[in-house]
Amino acid sequence: MKRIAVIASGRGSNFQVLIDAIRAGSIPAVCAALITDNPGAYAIERARGAGIPVMVADYNSFPDKEAYEARLLEAMQECGADLFVLAGYMRILGPGIVREFSGRLINIHPALLPAFPGLHAQRQALDYGVKVAGCTVHFVDDGVDSGPVIIQCCVPVLEGDDEATLAERILAEEHVILPEAVRLFCEDLLRIEGRKVFIISDNAV
Ligand code: GRF
Repeated sequence: MKRIAVIASGRGSNFQVLIDAIRAGSIPAVCAALITDNPGAYAIERARGAGIPVMVADYNSFPDKEAYEARLLEAMQECGADLFVLAGYMRILGPGIVREFSGRLINIHPALLPAFPGLHAQRQALDYGVKVAGCTVHFVDDGVDSGPVIIQCCVPVLEGDDEATLAERILAEEHVILPEAVRLFCEDLLRIEGRKVFIISDNAV
């Protein structure tokens, strides 16, 4: 059984979906920890509700990013997870952490990458005028939302959409593709070759 850890900065709805999928037995894993940079994150309540250990590395209590990341790295090593899931982690991980956990670190992003990386992806999509938006789960590399893509899902942009309505419709699909990607990882069904991720057929094993 794989151990996963979730790194989140805020609301934690994606984290909750993972908790629920693990509890329902659809992801063969245990959730070893929630790691957060924000002591006020609602994700902490969710972890407590599920009996999941919480590690807080309060970004604002460190003198600089380097000191913060040193603590974050330590917390990640301590929890001994096989997979780290960035689920609404609102910072960019430094290259040291990305290198250390390469191939074991995934992120959910609310856009069809490589379009609209970075912050306010849904607003970027609306401002650009695209007709199709979506979400992506990808392995993390040393760029911003640029690593190998695991799963994507399209979401139509509707005429009356504002940032909130589009974000809500995208979030519903995030809640589908994130647990699916985590399941595939936990069942050893993902193979990375360069930029590409191959999903080994469930029937082939
Ligand atoms: C999601 O839209 C995720 O794609 C983005 O941040 C948001 C986090 O939502 N990276 P939640 O905290 O999981 O509810």
